Amino acid sequence: MRLVLLGPPGCGKGTQGEKISKKYNIPRFSTGDILRAAIKNGTPLGKKAATFMNRGELVPDELVVDLMAEPIASHSQGFILDGFPRTVGQALGLVKILEKNGIELDAVVNITVAEDAVVKRLGGRRQCSKCGALYHIEYSPSKKDGVCDKCSGSLYQRDDDKEETIRNRLRAYKNETAPLVDYYKTIIKNVDGNGKEEEVFSRISSLI
Ligand code: AP5
Repeated sequence: MRLVLLGPPGCGKGTQGEKISKKYNIPRFSTGDILRAAIKNGTPLGKKAATFMNRGELVPDELVVDLMAEPIASHSQGFILDGFPRTVGQALGLVKILEKNGIELDAVVNITVAEDAVVKRLGGRRQCSKCGALYHIEYSPSKKDGVCDKCSGSLYQRDDDKEETIRNRLRAYKNETAPLVDYYKTIIKNVDGNGKEEEVFSRISSLI
């Protein structure tokens, strides 16, 4: 299965992408995770990306498209793209990568959540610095405050999860990413992302 997960910041792409990946044994590639790792490691890509990410803006298309060519080529039998493509320009870049590998997308899952709910989700998000597991201080807290249940790593708040940056990210979503809903209209599957994580997951599972 070759899937794209689409939706505004905080709609649950990472949370649901991880569940789909485990249940169906398909690798997930998150551009956000790859870029954050590049920033952490101080790579040239990370240095370029940091300026945009800290402001809540999208990283330029050419950097992101180049980044995804290899993972897609080496997992052409199945993958979940979490947060890519995010502009029509990236979608066109993805077409070229898919053609080069003689493959097509099976579905684009678009997770919809109201803006207020998204702001609340992002404001309370915590992530494990070691294994990347996701938590929310209210909706899915870790057993011990600030400590990951899975690996005992310490939990942190993402730099771009501050309110002003969240607003910028939502603006970037509306202006640059939302047009993809129309672009993918023939293969898009809209999923209501409101409700508990397991409820959303069962909606996605029944669609795919
Ligand atoms: P990225 O890391 O992709 O961030 P995003 O798209 O803004 O999405 P998030 O990771 O914030 O949210 P999510 O939808 O994965 O939700 P999650 O599951 O974590 O990108 C970050 C930045 O990198 C971008 O701003 C941009 O600068 C750059 N970038 C990345 N890709 C790019 C690209 N292709 N092109 C250009 N630039 C790019 O859930 C959020 C919280 O809600 C968690 O705490 C979770 O526990 C909780 N939660 C999840 N589901 C539920 C539920 N059902 N009920 C209650 N709480 C829930």
